[in-house]
Order: sequence, then C-alpha cells, then structure tokens
Amino acid sequence: MTCRSVVIDCDPGIDDAIALLAAFKAPELNIEAITVVNGNRPLETTLRNALQITELAKCPIPVFSGCWQPLVRDPLHGRFHGEQGLGACQLPAPASSAQELHAVDYLIQRCRQAGAEQSPITLCCLGPLTNVATALMIAPDIVTGIERVVLMGGAYRESGNTSLYAEFNTLADPHAADVLFRQNLPITVLPLDVTHKVMLTPEHVDALTAVAGRISPALNALMASWDRNDVRRYGSRGGPLHDPLVIAWLLRPEFFTSEKARVYVELDSRETLGRTTADWYGKTQQPQNVNVVTGVNAEKVFALFCQLFSQYQEVEE
Ligand code: BDR
Ligand code: CA
Repeated sequence: MTCRSVVIDCDPGIDDAIALLAAFKAPELNIEAITVVNGNRPLETTLRNALQITELAKCPIPVFSGCWQPLVRDPLHGRFHGEQGLGACQLPAPASSAQELHAVDYLIQRCRQAGAEQSPITLCCLGPLTNVATALMIAPDIVTGIERVVLMGGAYRESGNTSLYAEFNTLADPHAADVLFRQNLPITVLPLDVTHKVMLTPEHVDALTAVAGRISPALNALMASWDRNDVRRYGSRGGPLHDPLVIAWLLRPEFFTSEKARVYVELDSRETLGRTTADWYGKTQQPQNVNVVTGVNAEKVFALFCQLFSQYQEVEE
C-alpha cells in the first residue's frame, strides 16, 4: 500500500467534520496537518471545531490557524452548519490549541521542504482557498512541493448552491480560486456536479451511525443536521456529501469519472461572481489544467465510508 502525505485545509463545517473523521481512519493517508480557514463560520469557530474533531477522533494531528478573511471580498459564511458550525453535534471545549505558526507559513515551509526533498505532498482543500492562494502568492516556488491539489468547489453544468451561479467555497473567496487555477499545478476538483450525486439520505445516516462505535452519537448528530429535506431540489431526502468526496476520491479514484478542462472563475460581474466555467473543448486555446470530477458510483462510496467509520469500534483501554 502506498501512503500519500496530505495536508487538509478546511473550514469545519458539518461536512468538513465528516470528511476529517473518515480521513483519520484511512491507512492510505498520512495526514501531516490540518490548516483552518474562515468559511462556513468565522475563523475562531472553524478552528475550535477542527480541534474538537481531532480530539473526538483521538487523532492528535497538528492544527494551524489560517486566514480570517478572503483576499478581496467581505467574509461570507455558510447557511447550513448552525451557529457553532457543527449542527446539533455538541462537543467538549477543546483541550488542545492551534500551533503557533500561521497556516500560510506552515504551508510554505512544508511545501518548500517537500520540494527540496523531491517528495511532494497533496493538498486537500475543503473550504475557501484563501490559505493556499496566499501561500502561492507569497512563495510561488512552493509548487514544486505540491504533488496535486484536490478540492471541493465550483459548479459547472450544475447551478450554484449559494448564488444562482456560484458554489459556496468559490463564492466565499473567488479571487483565491482564481489564483489557484492560474498555477501550473495538477488540480482535481469535485464540484457540485458530482457532490449532488451522493446524497446522505436518512437510510445512509442510520447505516453509518450503526457502525461508528464510540463516535456514533456525534456522527449521527452531524449527519442528521445535514438533511436539507428538499426532495424537489435534490431528488431525495438528505444532504449532498460535498467534502467527504474529496477523501473518497483520494482513496478510490476508480469510483469516479472525470473530464479535463481549462477552468475560469468569474471575478468582475456582481451577478455571477464566483461562477466557475470549464472550457471542455479547447475553445480558449489554453492548456486544460484541471481534472473535473463529474461522475461517481455513490453506493461504492457509501460502502467505503461504512468501512472507514467502522474502525471507530476500537476497544477502549
Ligand atoms: C461547500 O460549502 C460548504 O458549505 C461545505 O462545507 C462545502 O465545502 C459546498 O458548497
Ligand atoms: Ca467545507
């Protein structure tokens, strides 16, 4: 088994929390750090939530606090995560604290080291791209230390989930997304086009809760809070499993299909700010720089999550 070194950049957030809990149990991932950004909730809340989730999982991965505001626009927060960002899931105040280093400085240091050692790492981005874009602007040389960026964000043939046209992570920091998509880097995106195909229905919630051992109550509260209860919009009960799909793609890319494209982010129009568009057919005569994931075998993904969460059935010492 090859083990991939990853840094998870996130804004927990209910689905970020579910993604982290799944990733912690994947032997194929060496999660070196969690970097936190303003997004679903203000930074102080997303940071506290990241610390709480690592403690719930008994997974003492270092957590770095990052950017508290987007590059240009005013902060935008999520609508579906509740005031505290983890829905109905209530966890004890964290005993641990963030590392002293700023997340952007950590990303620069770690990617530079990875580049020097010719052992590049993978960045998994589950929130607005402010931390990663800031690191790339300060230190463009770090691209040599990044094997791939795998991110949840954007909407291509699908309409937006936050404005008519834009997905939340891209709308929350469109200028940061633009910085990233201009890099000469391997990038994989999991947009709404694929995440809307994996609905976490009440039946899935029951099945995942049943196997999740000691984290069952917390996981159940997270997942139950994610139900949009909007059959007209999504075709079923439940909520789209956005961020956890990044983890699933890293572990089992064969469960997914993707298309190459050049990706652009709208920055100028007030109405369509943050809209992502894909040049699938080379009309702009620019290199196709992004692997856009558009298809998925949802039942295989759920079986994978069942297997990951069942590892929380460990015997307590
Ligand atoms: C994305 O926005 C947030 O609400 C979720 O955590 C996810 O990262 C989906 O649009
Ligand atoms: Ca997120």
